Amino acid sequence: MNLLDVAGVSYFIGDLEIIKDATFKANDGEFVSLIGPSGCGKSTLLRIIAGLIRPTKGKVMYLGKEIVEPIPEISFVFQDFALLPWLNNVENVEIGLSRSSISEEEKRKKALEILRHVGLSGFEYAYPNALSGGMKQRVGIARAIVSEPKILLMDEPFSSLDELTAEALRKDVYTMLKSKDNPVSSVIMVTHNVEEAVELSDKIVVMAQKPSYVKKILEVKMGRPRNKYSKEFRDYVNTVYKLLTT
Ligand SMILES: Nc1ncnc2c1ncn2[C@@H]1O[C@H](COP(=O)(O)OP(=O)(O)OP(=O)(O)O)[C@@H](O)[C@H]1O
Ligand SMILES: [Mg+2]
Repeated sequence: MNLLDVAGVSYFIGDLEIIKDATFKANDGEFVSLIGPSGCGKSTLLRIIAGLIRPTKGKVMYLGKEIVEPIPEISFVFQDFALLPWLNNVENVEIGLSRSSISEEEKRKKALEILRHVGLSGFEYAYPNALSGGMKQRVGIARAIVSEPKILLMDEPFSSLDELTAEALRKDVYTMLKSKDNPVSSVIMVTHNVEEAVELSDKIVVMAQKPSYVKKILEVKMGRPRNKYSKEFRDYVNTVYKLLTT
């Protein structure tokens, strides 16, 4: 059985078809990217997978069970971090445990642990406005993974960071997510960035518009770590560019 099945998902706003018959799967251990032009419906598709909105047709299944509302096994990382400025970092991370029935004391312990895991030792009690963009996104990721989800959805998680910060965070996120003490077994990331998709993904879902549909699902069969300057890497980048522009 697949971990996640997006099966024939269409989405209409009134008469306007935003997404047409999107189908792809994410298996255990897979890093999947959704890439496509601006406005093609990537964020909408991610929100459907999260159970935040319902598809007009088709369905999304987690381990064979249809997703009709947000479930604890799936969590979300936002492009703009979405931290609450009046809460410190550990309190922001505890929001990820708001639906959990564990004690306040245990919540605090878990939140502190995960903040250290994402590289924020020493900043547990700082407020978001004291952090750089990269650090804010680390808090955003900590909040999403503290509840130990199986699937992590990320909507352009690195796109509001400068390229050097983004590159460092990409590497850290990948290593962290793949570490064996991490419960996340699959990541679905929306991106505009072709190199980012090739660097991180096992599978790239290339979307086109309008309405948005899945143009091609490309398996990235390249070892890791990946060298951006290798011929193999450049070939993948060119293939994705071609798919996006023709
Ligand atoms: N509530 C809404 N009412 C009307 N149109 C909407 C609404 N929400 C989204 N749309 C339209 O749906 C389309 C898809 O939007 P969406 O935000 O999912 O695209 P996207 O691929 O994530 O774009 P971007 O890359 O710019 O983030 C867009 O054309 C947008 O204008
Ligand atoms: Mg979007």
